[in-house]
Parts: sequence; structure tokens; C-alpha cells
Amino acid sequence: MERIAVCPGSFDPVTYGHLDIIKRASLLFDKVIVLISANPSKKPSFSAAERMMMIEANIKGYDNVVIDILDGLLADYVKNVGAIAIVKGLRAVSDFEYEFQMALANKKLYSGAETVFLTTSSENMYLSSSVVKQIAQFGGDINHFVPECVLDFISQRLVVKEKSNE
Ligand code: PNS
Repeated sequence: MERIAVCPGSFDPVTYGHLDIIKRASLLFDKVIVLISANPSKKPSFSAAERMMMIEANIKGYDNVVIDILDGLLADYVKNVGAIAIVKGLRAVSDFEYEFQMALANKKLYSGAETVFLTTSSENMYLSSSVVKQIAQFGGDINHFVPECVLDFISQRLVVKEKSNE
């Protein structure tokens, strides 16, 4: 039986923190589906297709990793693809309550998959997409937080925003 894991998130945009979790998950499972999912409490800066391109450019060589887009319930998707796990990265205690709540809800909705938490590598402890975007918006250097192609996407988007605000 193929052991499939789903790695869901907003990935708006993908950071080195996300990529670390995806790559480590790919060593634990036969197949990893990186699932760009809708989070109703966040207004995305990038379209799902743009987020997909950014991830795609950074998983080359990881042959068991694929990307998909979901505009529905995660638990239904996990059941439909026959995944046995939902993989999430845990950065700090502050993540725990929210992640714990989602893990329990997903388990209730579909009991056939476990949520597996991977602890973030220490160098990525503080990293989040929103922190990265905020630093970039105020002209800070995000070179160490996101891969080059994401850097291009962010700077282009910020330039467009700045122009439209003029
Ligand atoms: O990266 P994020 O924004 O913290 O990821 C949260 C995400 C997208 C995984 C979560 O909002 C989600 O699962 N969205 C899909 C819709 C869904 O199933 N919601 C109920 C979760 S219990």
C-alpha cells in the first residue's frame, strides 16, 4: 500500500520553513501531496496558481512530491486520495493550540488519517509567510527566508502595489 501524506497550508508564499517540512515529509512517506488550501481567515497575496509555481520551482528532484490546490474541506480531500497522514510543521508553543484544534476537527471529520507534527528546524523557528511579507513591505531583506523565485514574486507584487498607491 502506498503511504500518502498531505501537507496542507496557505503557502502565501512558501518559505524555507515550509520547504524544510515538505522535504523531510518526503523522506517519511511514499508520496507527499503539498496542498495549497483556502484559509478563510487569511486574505492571500498570491493566487493559488502563483503559489503553486513558487513551490514547484523548489521541489525539483523530490520525485515523490506533487502539488495540488483545494477549495474545499481538507478532511474530504484526505479521504478521497487515500492519505494516511496530514503533515504540519510546529514552530512554537504558540502554534500548538490552533494546530491541536485543527487536528482534532480533522480526525472527527475523517478518522482514517492521523495528523503528524514535525518540529521546525531551529533556524526556521521564527519564520512565517506573514512575517516575510511584512519585512518585504517595509523594504527589509528577505533573502534568507525565501528562495530566489519567491523573492522575485514578492518584489514584483510590492512594486505593483506601491505604484497603484501613488
Ligand atoms: O498555512 P495555514 O494558513 O496555517 O493552513 C491552514 C489550512 C489551510 C491548512 C486550514 O485553514 C485548512 O485546512 N483549510 C482547508 C479548509 C478546511 O478543511 N478547514 C477546516 C480545518 S479543521
